[in-house]
Amino acid sequence: DKGGWSSFMAKEVSEEPEAVANTVRGRIHDGRIRVPELDGLDDLFRDIDRVVILACGTAYYSGLVGKYAIEKWARIPVDVELAHEFRYRDPILSPSTLVVSISQSGETMDTLMAVKEAARLGAKTLSICNTQGATIPRESDAIVYTHAGPEVAVASTKAFVAQITALYLLALHVGDVRGTLADDVAIEAVAQLEALPDKIQWILDNEQERIEQLARWMADTRSVLFLGRHVGFPIALEGALKLKEISYIHAEGFAAGELKHGPIALIEPGQPVFVVVPSPRGSITMHQKVVSNIEEIRARGARVIAIAEQGDSAVLPSADEVLRIPLASPLFEPLLAVVPLHIFAMGLATAKGLDVDQPRNLAKSVTVE
Ligand code: F6R
Repeated sequence: DKGGWSSFMAKEVSEEPEAVANTVRGRIHDGRIRVPELDGLDDLFRDIDRVVILACGTAYYSGLVGKYAIEKWARIPVDVELAHEFRYRDPILSPSTLVVSISQSGETMDTLMAVKEAARLGAKTLSICNTQGATIPRESDAIVYTHAGPEVAVASTKAFVAQITALYLLALHVGDVRGTLADDVAIEAVAQLEALPDKIQWILDNEQERIEQLARWMADTRSVLFLGRHVGFPIALEGALKLKEISYIHAEGFAAGELKHGPIALIEPGQPVFVVVPSPRGSITMHQKVVSNIEEIRARGARVIAIAEQGDSAVLPSADEVLRIPLASPLFEPLLAVVPLHIFAMGLATAKGLDVDQPRNLAKSVTVE
């Protein structure tokens, strides 16, 4: 039931605030993150020396974001791998490796086979999944469910924000167990998690219409590029995938720092480029670098659509459009910056008259390898 929405995707994007709130619910105890499903695993979390994240598609991008949080808060090195690439590479794992799989459906065959291979090689496996009782969680040693609710549209949206949320909960839980998480950092993270749903709602309430209008203006666009840095990089990849998937437009996401190593050659007059701008309150250097990326591509004629926090005026002189997101600590920005990109992909596909829920050639759950 679309509940009055024009599509399941529109409904599911509107549910992104709840997807985060419901995933956090019940996992805060005495002001700290404590995931009850992980009780009893303290020894395991203290013993591991490596995390390998396995997933496909959008779930893989959530894993790329999760790497930053796990390394920062739990101080464990993290590799993030496409499940199908991992599986056939004779991977090196040990009992001190924790393999974290991420899957909305819990039935993705590529991810399932990779998890089975990891278990066979002696690693402990933990599943982040949105579907109760699905095959991947059943094959795993531990489970952290995302509570995004059923996702019907083929393109994943609310599950993506719930996956990042679950990875952050895992990072904070494990960081607490390992003693790598300072009190003030833990308290701040809880406050940030609790504030996210309202901030996502702000974007839906205040920017959605403008983004949809932008998408209508761009209905004839043949190619869109996405740039991001740090946690904004996986968001650029996600923005590009969503656009390809449902509007059939060529789209690529790049790490902003890679620009001068190749992709800048693609910039010609009129080329639309979305740029996820990191907050200057995080790293001023990183912010300045991304602002100068914007200047470089603008000088070559790119049409720049910046996604930047409220009040960031450094982007104003060279961006053609600025889509605003509320202020958040740097690690929490991806959960906000992705929202305009989901709205944009949906808006553009709608402007082209396409079925956003059932894109051609794709299935919701990919149960063949
Ligand atoms: C993109 C999308 C796919 C899935 C991928 C993994 O919008 O929906 O890329 O993210 O097929 O699916 P799950 O998470 O079910 O394993």
